[in-house]
Amino acid sequence: MHQDERGHALTTSSSTASEEIDLAIHNFLHWKSDVVPRVGASLAADPDFAFAHVVGGLIMHGARNVHFRGKIEDSLTKAKKSADGLTEREQNYLRALEASASGQITEAVSLYETILAKNPVDLFAQRLAQMELFWIGEMDWSEQISRRASTHWDKSVPSYGVHLSCRSFDLEETHNFAEAEALGRKSVEIDPTDVWGTHSVAHVLIMQGRHEEGIAWIDDLKNNWEDSNQMQLHLWWHRCLFHLERGEFDEVLDIHDTWVRNREHPLLVSMPDLYIDMQNGASMLLRLELRGVDVGGRWAELEELTLKRLDDHTSPFTSPHFAVILAATGRFAEAERLLASMTEFANHDRGTFGPRYLMAAIPATQAVIAHRRGEHSKVVDLLLPARHQLWQMGGSHAQRDLFFLILADSILKEGRSDLIGIVLDDIERAGFSDAASRIGYRGAGSAMH
Ligand SMILES: [Fe+2]
Repeated sequence: MHQDERGHALTTSSSTASEEIDLAIHNFLHWKSDVVPRVGASLAADPDFAFAHVVGGLIMHGARNVHFRGKIEDSLTKAKKSADGLTEREQNYLRALEASASGQITEAVSLYETILAKNPVDLFAQRLAQMELFWIGEMDWSEQISRRASTHWDKSVPSYGVHLSCRSFDLEETHNFAEAEALGRKSVEIDPTDVWGTHSVAHVLIMQGRHEEGIAWIDDLKNNWEDSNQMQLHLWWHRCLFHLERGEFDEVLDIHDTWVRNREHPLLVSMPDLYIDMQNGASMLLRLELRGVDVGGRWAELEELTLKRLDDHTSPFTSPHFAVILAATGRFAEAERLLASMTEFANHDRGTFGPRYLMAAIPATQAVIAHRRGEHSKVVDLLLPARHQLWQMGGSHAQRDLFFLILADSILKEGRSDLIGIVLDDIERAGFSDAASRIGYRGAGSAMH
């Protein structure tokens, strides 16, 4: 029986298939871009390696794109056909893929927890659970999972640093900033290419208003990301956040064009519309426009990509960003079509996403459209009651801040200074230090006096 790098059995007779899937998982865990080719190499060596089909399906599912549904179903079908003799752990991964493919995300997470109960250092399960829970806003649950696992880890277990970076991000999103920063820095000491640990510390620094340190942090580590996946572009988005807070808009535009949405960057050439990259672009351009910056024709490439995704309900966080893009380019008819498609989905879906679209993504999308139309009173009417449910769309506190920036902007434009204190309280409750000093809320702070 072959094993992965942490000693879990892999059901294949081929040592090449075993080595390649282990490398695929290793690269996935280390945020390297070379994952799908390794799954392909594994399956080339053993086309009946059910677990490799499962891994391939889970990677595709993680890309959150409705157009990958066929490939995911194909992986699931092939895995099921070869499922005889799988270990209990592999069977649970297969069941998790099946649950994920049908939108039963919380069921998939429970299966990862089940795997971890018997295999506490199965980092693949820990990482997949965190990814799923992050995108439905359930970071308390994710923190619980990594806390349970943490007692079984020490530096003798392969990829210990990745466990620490995952644990760090759980702690950051649940407001344990000091411990999050310590573990994030430790993971980067172990491996300077650990973009997830780098990212977690960047989150702590933005939440605590340590903008100069944030720029230096990313500057010191940026040369380590050559083999990394799209997380490197998201780290550049984070660097934009620091510059934005300092009013350095030219730097933000430069980083946007060089990294975040540089369509000639190999990662964006191979997949221009990966959800995280679309979010990064839409979010940063709108943040700039909220500060009065002319972003020129930069929305156009996002518009073209979004028009192909109007019926994509794979992420309640991404869908409102699609609306941001469509509204910004005057595509109001398409934005309404997107909204109608989201509503139809939410009214029928009995999985994890439907209720989240209903409670968070739909009011956020309606607000985004109204904001671009200049209907600020409507924005306030939509977001004020929905704001305590926005966590259900998933994403980080720093990412969801976009919708509070929109609410603050509309409140100010409506001259509703009586409501400003509510938003400032929300921002501090989200974990940001000194909300009234932040660039998007400064006007809000002065309007109170
Ligand atoms: Fe982030």
